[in-house]
Amino acid sequence: MAVIIDGKRISNDIKDELKARVNEQNIDATLCVIQVGNDPASSIYVKNKKKACEYIGIKSVSYELPDETTEKELIDLVQSLNEDKRINGILVQLPLPSHINSDAVIKAIAPNKDVDGFHPENVGNLCIGRQGFLSCTPAGIIELLKRYDIPIEGRECVIIGRSNIVGKPMALLMLRENATVTICHSRTRDLAETARRADILIVAIGKPRFITKDYVKEGAVVIDVGIHRDEDNKLCGDVDYEDVLPHVSAITPVPGGVGPMTIAMLMNNCVQSALQMTADK
Ligand code: GUN
Repeated sequence: MAVIIDGKRISNDIKDELKARVNEQNIDATLCVIQVGNDPASSIYVKNKKKACEYIGIKSVSYELPDETTEKELIDLVQSLNEDKRINGILVQLPLPSHINSDAVIKAIAPNKDVDGFHPENVGNLCIGRQGFLSCTPAGIIELLKRYDIPIEGRECVIIGRSNIVGKPMALLMLRENATVTICHSRTRDLAETARRADILIVAIGKPRFITKDYVKEGAVVIDVGIHRDEDNKLCGDVDYEDVLPHVSAITPVPGGVGPMTIAMLMNNCVQSALQMTADK
């Protein structure tokens, strides 16, 4: 029988651990969330982030800016928050409207307040094995594997997807845990054959139910980063869950797998940031 990896439970455990820590150590943390425009999915993510802050005892400030906001206005706001000693985490919700260059905005965030772990300095630190904020979804996946005692060292890990937010940092984190890592993408020649090499298969391809049992080695661990609504308005991932379930040793469901971990790791980064800023004072 496959182990169903319960990301909801683990994320609740992490949030409870953080809440206790914030309370015991009297940690004063404030996250600032910026949303530009009113993309409905982004609004839900932002609401959930603020809710998690409230639960843990992290203060949150939010800016809901109109679609017409210019890149300069947004960067000016980010720079004023960089200077603001009361704020220790800055998060600009993505995607941004197409007239704003996301890379320029991310680069404007002070690396020591970049709780998303997207700033080139934090990505660079991850790449060369130094301390820094980690991208929340990949960090959450490592946490799930560790809390389920799933060994990583020496194992074949195949990652499908090479985004800056998930695929690339995921590969670096698995490498840091001493896995043998392969990254696949849209130009990979025989995707199914490569995916079947994986002891741990991590899928962030952005296509509903794309990964069937043909892509999965018997007994593999399958981690599904995707989230979509199917034609019946039902949530599903990048993996055809029912099809692969009989063949895996462990799998993350959608919903309730990777998704809740992203927010838990964001909260962890906010607490880390507050502790570092207090230590640096
Ligand atoms: N949009 C989708 N996921 C994320 C995330 O983790 N952080 C930010 N800032 N935007 C997102």
